[in-house]
Amino acid sequence: MQDSGDELTEPVESFDAFRQAVVTWGVPRLRDLPWRRTRDPWAVLVSEVMLQQTQAARVIPKWEAFLAEFPDPAACAAAPLGAVLRAWQGLGYPRRAKHLHATAVAIVTERDGRWPDEIDALMALPGIGPYTARAVRAFAHELPAAVVDTNVARILARVTGARLTASRAQQLADRWADDDEPWTWNQVLLDLGASVCRPRPNCPACPIRSWCEWHRSGCQEPDPAVGSAGVSVRQARFAGSDRQARGEVLARLGRGAIGADEVAALIETTAERAARIVDTLVADGLVERAGDGRVRLPGG
Ligand code: ADE
Repeated sequence: MQDSGDELTEPVESFDAFRQAVVTWGVPRLRDLPWRRTRDPWAVLVSEVMLQQTQAARVIPKWEAFLAEFPDPAACAAAPLGAVLRAWQGLGYPRRAKHLHATAVAIVTERDGRWPDEIDALMALPGIGPYTARAVRAFAHELPAAVVDTNVARILARVTGARLTASRAQQLADRWADDDEPWTWNQVLLDLGASVCRPRPNCPACPIRSWCEWHRSGCQEPDPAVGSAGVSVRQARFAGSDRQARGEVLARLGRGAIGADEVAALIETTAERAARIVDTLVADGLVERAGDGRVRLPGG
């Protein structure tokens, strides 16, 4: 962490006291989550990708089953994408599973099984963005990095009392970060956002409320977290969406190939919409045409 001196408003009067308050609050309360017991980059990466879309409690059994089937990049890289999509079933966002598979292939074929620990090199892997790269660096390698997920982005905006761009949020998080204890610092901050600085905050329970601009102002609307970069907004309706239909098709194909002309009945829609859904799945590389009029998961 460097001294201020740039145009950013100093978010806290004393970083040491601020950090101490966060860590003193958080360490005894750290949630005991299975991915916190490993430092294996593959296991950490799988957890972080799953956690981007799904609550921790629902991720636990999926993460355990996924790693039982694909314990390392070599096992995943050796499997057809279809098998990885099957293990991803129920998590949604199947392109993320495709990216994980591609990352496993890259680690095995391009990096001889060795994981990078620099942010740029991690971000060069398929589907790994600024958040995931920093999460792998901090949580697997225990190296300095400031992880800004939706929970942390909310804290940053509220403490500074400002709606933040992604780069400002990252700059601030870098400034706050405890480079001596990157693993602990980031996990504790995630927990603070997940349990106290929630969309509806529990300010009386917050260890850093005295440093929080938004709290000082009486938590008046608008909440600076709303509209800040990285703070998730409500998902579009799932029922009736293409996302739901794509998930249903993939779930069915997980049990074997079907005729492309059966898809409309399967998802109870028109032939035109069914054809479009199949086209997008094929274009995304999540489904392949068998050549006999049937569609299937890649690799069977
Ligand atoms: N959300 C994102 N990363 C997480 C982690 N490591 N633990 C708990 N929740 C998370």
